[in-house]
Amino acid sequence: MLRPPYQSYDRLHVYHLDKADIPAFADPDLIGIWIEDDTAVLFFHRAKDPLVADLCSRHRCNVVYQADLDYCDWEAGQFISSFTVGGITVSPVWEKGPADIRLDPSVIFGSGFHPTTRVCLETVINYLRSPEAGIKTMLDLGTGTGLLSIAAARFGAEKITAVDNNPLACEVARANCRLNQVAERIDIREMDLRKDQPQTSGCNLVVANLYRGLLEQLFQTPSFWEADLYILSGFLQSMEADLLAELPAGQLRFLDRKRSDKWCIWVLGNRKVIG
Ligand SMILES: C[S@@+](CC[C@H](N)C(=O)[O-])C[C@H]1O[C@@H](n2cnc3c(N)ncnc32)[C@H](O)[C@@H]1O
Repeated sequence: MLRPPYQSYDRLHVYHLDKADIPAFADPDLIGIWIEDDTAVLFFHRAKDPLVADLCSRHRCNVVYQADLDYCDWEAGQFISSFTVGGITVSPVWEKGPADIRLDPSVIFGSGFHPTTRVCLETVINYLRSPEAGIKTMLDLGTGTGLLSIAAARFGAEKITAVDNNPLACEVARANCRLNQVAERIDIREMDLRKDQPQTSGCNLVVANLYRGLLEQLFQTPSFWEADLYILSGFLQSMEADLLAELPAGQLRFLDRKRSDKWCIWVLGNRKVIG
């Protein structure tokens, strides 16, 4: 995350360690620590070879990969800047013009530049704007930067639970919620959806922009299908048939089925609730 004196991202110095439980440490150039299974990825604004060597010797671990990247390369070659979707403008914190949502994208998925984020964002806004949909509660599974939850809160959702298994994503999402003054309506929880799932019963909308394997697992869990409405993405056209086969027979109705680039977005309504 950005902390003074840094106001934007330029270089990313990345150290991937073969150990996850590295005790917290303060460093003025630290962007954040990304935990992935049993490993930790440390992101800095500057090269930190001596500091990382010291950490490795104190905590008996090794650097398995090291890189010095341009921030644009981390963001798949995109220069992150303001964009407008569904009539709302989302701006990175380093741009000073008017914006409806300000975001520190950090090194977390959900800057808004991936096609799945954009279409999910547009779809969330459309349903939140629709009085007939009556969406008051939402679950955001794999929240990343928190963008979809923040947009939902802006458009009237009263109670949102957002989860991510990446502690850095949770930290960034919480900071983005505070920045946009919607923190009191969004409960951000660190949770691994492979092991735990928040309750969907009583929830108006579930948004899950994840990946095929995890979606398959969720689809196979009967208690996942207790919400009114689902916006699902993170899979390619070539994966649609396999995912379709995992949907509970007769329970869901396709309300929309879109593509952006090669990515798919499904909107499903629960027949138990919407008929
Ligand atoms: C494709 S990104 C979507 C981010 C954001 N919702 C968006 O639409 O841009 C998927 C997110 O799910 C999170 N994620 C991946 N596996 C997860 C798991 N097992 N449990 C919880 N979150 C997970 C990732 O850390 C990442 O932030």
